[in-house]
Amino acid sequence: MAASAPIKKTVYYGTFVHSKSLSELDICAKGAIGVDENGVIAFVERDVSDVANVIQKYGEWKDAEVVKIEDNGFFFPGFIDTHTHASQHANTGLFGKTTLLSWLETYTFPMESSLSSLSKASTVYSNFVSRTLSHGTTTCAYYATIHVPSTNLLADICLKRGQRALVGRVCMDTMSPDYYRDASVEAVIKDSKASIDYIRSIDPSGFIVKPILTPRFAPSCTASCMSALGALAKQTDAHIQTHISENKSEIALVKSLFPDSQSYTHVYDSADLLTPKTILAHAVHLTHAEVKIIKERGTKISHCPASNTALTSGCAPVRELLNAGLTVGLGTDVSGGFSPSILEECRQAIWVSRFRAMHDGDEAKLSTEEVLYLATRGGAQVVGMEDKVGGFEVGMEWDAQMICLGRVKKEGEQEGRFAGNVDLFGFETPEDKVNKWVYGGDDRNTERVWVRGRLVHKR
Ligand code: GUN
Ligand code: FE
Repeated sequence: MAASAPIKKTVYYGTFVHSKSLSELDICAKGAIGVDENGVIAFVERDVSDVANVIQKYGEWKDAEVVKIEDNGFFFPGFIDTHTHASQHANTGLFGKTTLLSWLETYTFPMESSLSSLSKASTVYSNFVSRTLSHGTTTCAYYATIHVPSTNLLADICLKRGQRALVGRVCMDTMSPDYYRDASVEAVIKDSKASIDYIRSIDPSGFIVKPILTPRFAPSCTASCMSALGALAKQTDAHIQTHISENKSEIALVKSLFPDSQSYTHVYDSADLLTPKTILAHAVHLTHAEVKIIKERGTKISHCPASNTALTSGCAPVRELLNAGLTVGLGTDVSGGFSPSILEECRQAIWVSRFRAMHDGDEAKLSTEEVLYLATRGGAQVVGMEDKVGGFEVGMEWDAQMICLGRVKKEGEQEGRFAGNVDLFGFETPEDKVNKWVYGGDDRNTERVWVRGRLVHKR
């Protein structure tokens, strides 16, 4: 089940569902997808009545393995989590009535600081990678902690388990507790470089793990720290991730800390931190002028609705961000968010859009199709992997999940094997099945998960 294990040519046969566009799903009821020894999709055939015909058509596939899915399920692209904190996993569900700044002090900094212990980091990170894989997350943008050894350990675990990951060593040189902060800008750069070099050394191809520079957020970083990280990003062509405009008190704090800056967005822009490879999490309260700069820089957005509700940060105006042409993906933001599941995040994105719709009108509502797009194709653009993952086209890589839904048992029959929480009664169209999964599904429906054609999770 490791990233480097050799794989056999495989034909996946049955129903495939993926996004055609933001508003449209492509549901192919009788498809056959050939995945070669490199995990790359070699062919996509539709309307296949018998998989044997496909194997006959592609002569060199005669010894291929066939993975067939029954009527109660479908293949779906692996989910992409564009923002989460592996280091906060042990705190999941613990936030009480705090809001962002009090939550950081009360729960988050003490927990992250404790991961200086490599044995604790190993337990938490191994468990979190297993947990996210079991929910069908094949690519994840992770925040670790300020500690280089445990950050590197997270990258080791992702590589070993075969989960694609951007792994970030957190930078914070000011306004942070004495027990958990960087000593100086020099220390930030030295440690960030050390982590970049290590992660690039264990996976020189970058196929599975890549480093990502991670200034925590503007209040935790001095202007010189952010500028030095902006320069390091340029020098190393690294990805960048941070938080922006999440909570009103945080925005007021940024204004007081950077009085000469026009906005929160300008603080990052002045440090050259807004690049096409930058992921900004939250973006709940941006002004139109800020959205315009982010668009001009080609910078991406991670929408984290569960976290935004849990910490009462606000309801991000996703429709406005999309209409402005921004690229948006979904993020679980554990442990501001209470679930490691992107499927849960899809539901939360839908709910939050409905709360916006109560004030902004129906256009604000996100559909099932739209949130699934954000969870796959949108996320792939956010992490810069849209040519490889997020959909099932020839030349893309097989990052996929096998979804199996329940079946209501007939009189005298044993309980269906894929009972989970979703009951199919037999009348459902493929579209109905997708909706039932989105609203009622969970990891019990995620039967198998592949990354680059390799099996990385099996129930
Ligand atoms: N802002 C700064 N740090 C954090 C964090 O760990 N989580 C969230 N949600 N927001 C932040
Ligand atoms: Fe976060």
